[in-house]
Amino acid sequence: MTRNSEITRRSWIKATGALGTAGLTGLSGCLGGGDDDGDGDGDGADGDGQPGENAFEIIHWWTAGGEREALDALLDGFLAEYGYAKEIIDDNPAPGGAGSAVDAVIQSRIIDEDPPSTFQIWPGESLRPYTDAAVLADIGDLWTDDMRDAYLDGVMDLASPEGNLVSVPINIHRMNNLFYNVEVIDEVGIDPEAIADPVELLDAFEAADTAGSTGLAKTSQAWSMLQMWESLYIGLHGVDGYESFLDRDLGGLEDDIRETLELVVDYREFFSEDASSIAWDEANAQVIDGSAAFIHQGDWAAGQYGAADLEYQDEWDFIPVPGTEGVYQVVMDSFVLPEPNPSPQLTEEFLSYCGTIDAQERFNPIKGSIPPRTDVPTDDFGPFLQDQMDDFAASTAQPPTVAHGSGFDPEGKSTLEEIFSQFIENWDAEQTTNRIIDEL
Ligand code: GAL
Repeated sequence: MTRNSEITRRSWIKATGALGTAGLTGLSGCLGGGDDDGDGDGDGADGDGQPGENAFEIIHWWTAGGEREALDALLDGFLAEYGYAKEIIDDNPAPGGAGSAVDAVIQSRIIDEDPPSTFQIWPGESLRPYTDAAVLADIGDLWTDDMRDAYLDGVMDLASPEGNLVSVPINIHRMNNLFYNVEVIDEVGIDPEAIADPVELLDAFEAADTAGSTGLAKTSQAWSMLQMWESLYIGLHGVDGYESFLDRDLGGLEDDIRETLELVVDYREFFSEDASSIAWDEANAQVIDGSAAFIHQGDWAAGQYGAADLEYQDEWDFIPVPGTEGVYQVVMDSFVLPEPNPSPQLTEEFLSYCGTIDAQERFNPIKGSIPPRTDVPTDDFGPFLQDQMDDFAASTAQPPTVAHGSGFDPEGKSTLEEIFSQFIENWDAEQTTNRIIDEL
């Protein structure tokens, strides 16, 4: 891990530049041969479809309640179809959310020409360093007509940042949610639906605080603060301004950026006392056990409510962040085929499986996300996700996020994350605004 964190962007570019050729050689090895079991079928498995030496290794960060179960359901479905894939190594090098440490692990493995079979990655801009380095296989052949017909066009576009399909998205999360504990809210006498904008939310936090609850359950990890700032920005200043921000068209946005940061500083008074030491799911556990009233989070939080057996609307509920009604801020996950691949056939089979109705029907109801295929039966999705599907269909804007990789190129993302890492130390809205304007 230490060595990974020492990889600089420069060395990554240099190393992956060098790897470009190796990656391409590996690619032909993968799709045309590269079989290490000697039977020539390219699967690393012997001729009767039994596992060869290479296990199927998947790297992800799904450790929280709901996320773990969703991945298990996906892997169970995969095994039900491809039963010979018995040895599955499932590595989660970055518990705590949002994959902050996964990139470094993957980059290091790729530089060592020892990538895992597949890894979790946000489709869109996050794929670019890997496509630039030519270390991801073109998996257009795996995208059957059935998949191409069924997937939302915008999702397919994100899976092919350079034109070639290189990933298989499996879910669509929403980020601009404000979840709450129904009992706490009722006791305090707050009507969330009546909260008109993010500034008014302060009164609700205050009321919860006065009644002895934490107003806003929060981890102060930089990604989580950034994602909340992004939702609040839309809530305060609308989607057009936010999209200008994503385009780095910052002229005229300075006041809006500062005002949104100032609001985060105002919210801070109502954060969990242990915000600096807890992860997002530990913050969400405070909403679950009723010690906190609200949490801003992606709807992976709903996966945790499901895992805790809480009833939607009776025990927990949500509103879009006030001011963001009609907006569906999207976060997606996908899987890829890195090169040279240790288990090419199994990896291809896994990616093909992720693109099926069966996979998306098993995974998403548990994960708290909706499927990127448009033809997945929705009966098992439960009332919360039915509501999210309705909101998605009715949404007037579906902007991406920087905190979860699709909104900015990776360099811009890491600059903004670094700025937010300092913000959560000094809580200085003015200085943070200046850095954003100067450095983005
Ligand atoms: C996101 C990811 C989600 C969820 C969340 C919290 O980046 O796309 O699937 O895992 O982090 O960890």
